[in-house]
Amino acid sequence: MSEPTSPREPRPLIPGQVASWLGLVAFFAAGALVVGYATYASRPATTTDADRRVTQKALRAKSESEGQALLTGAARHADGTFRVPIETAMAVLVADPKVLASFKPAPAPVAAAFVAADEATLKRGAAVYARTCIVCHQPTGKGLPPVFPSIAGTPIVTGNPESPIKFILQGLMGPITVDGITFNSMMPPVAGVTDEDIADVLTYVRQSFGNKANAVTAAQVKAVRTATAARTTPWNTAELGLK
Ligand code: HEC
Repeated sequence: MSEPTSPREPRPLIPGQVASWLGLVAFFAAGALVVGYATYASRPATTTDADRRVTQKALRAKSESEGQALLTGAARHADGTFRVPIETAMAVLVADPKVLASFKPAPAPVAAAFVAADEATLKRGAAVYARTCIVCHQPTGKGLPPVFPSIAGTPIVTGNPESPIKFILQGLMGPITVDGITFNSMMPPVAGVTDEDIADVLTYVRQSFGNKANAVTAAQVKAVRTATAARTTPWNTAELGLK
């Protein structure tokens, strides 16, 4: 009887001991992956996200003071500015006026392009000028210094029309320097002119004598006339900020 030959087991691809080590390593690797992902998912938000969250929380606050307390501090960047979503920015401004102070100033608006008034308007304006301004400011617009100032190329003519509307309605007095000459005279109120007349004459002088400024509307004149209805005495140059 011959010894039964023990069937030789096929040699395992990976020896038993190594296999169990590999299993252990795989187990830990999987564990590390899970823990890593969980850490990644619950990571602290970026500054902007955090700000947005604080802002939204502040907007939901029960009282203004509570909202302000939330906003002041946590939502502020290291450079002192607040970064909030555009759509909530206005609400934040209402919640905390201090935010407004921390915003960087917006770039200056681009000056409106010059639009020449139509011929009919300029013609009407020229007629009003001939009737109400020409005796003092002359057909050339250059006035008669040192009694009547020039209105050619002067900033009051081409600037915000509010002042000219005011002193056409109620008159002007007090010291004023035009082209280096100081006048201290008085321009009387221009009587018998409608809102349309004043708009037309200002449009005309703003687009004549070398001046180049946009038209004035009757609505603008009406608004000033209404706002200054109680005024009976001439404006003082200093009062209008004119020098
Ligand atoms: C009776 C003369 C007289 C009439 C009419 C008159 N002005 Fe004047 N105007 C003056 C005087 C004088 C001053 C300077 C007032 C001062 O010294 O404070 C002046 C000032 C001005 C100024 C500001 C200064 C400058 O030169 O830019 C403007 C603009 C102006 N007038 C426009 C007009 C217009 C437009 C009319 C017609 C609707 C008009 N004036 C009618 C006498 C007049």
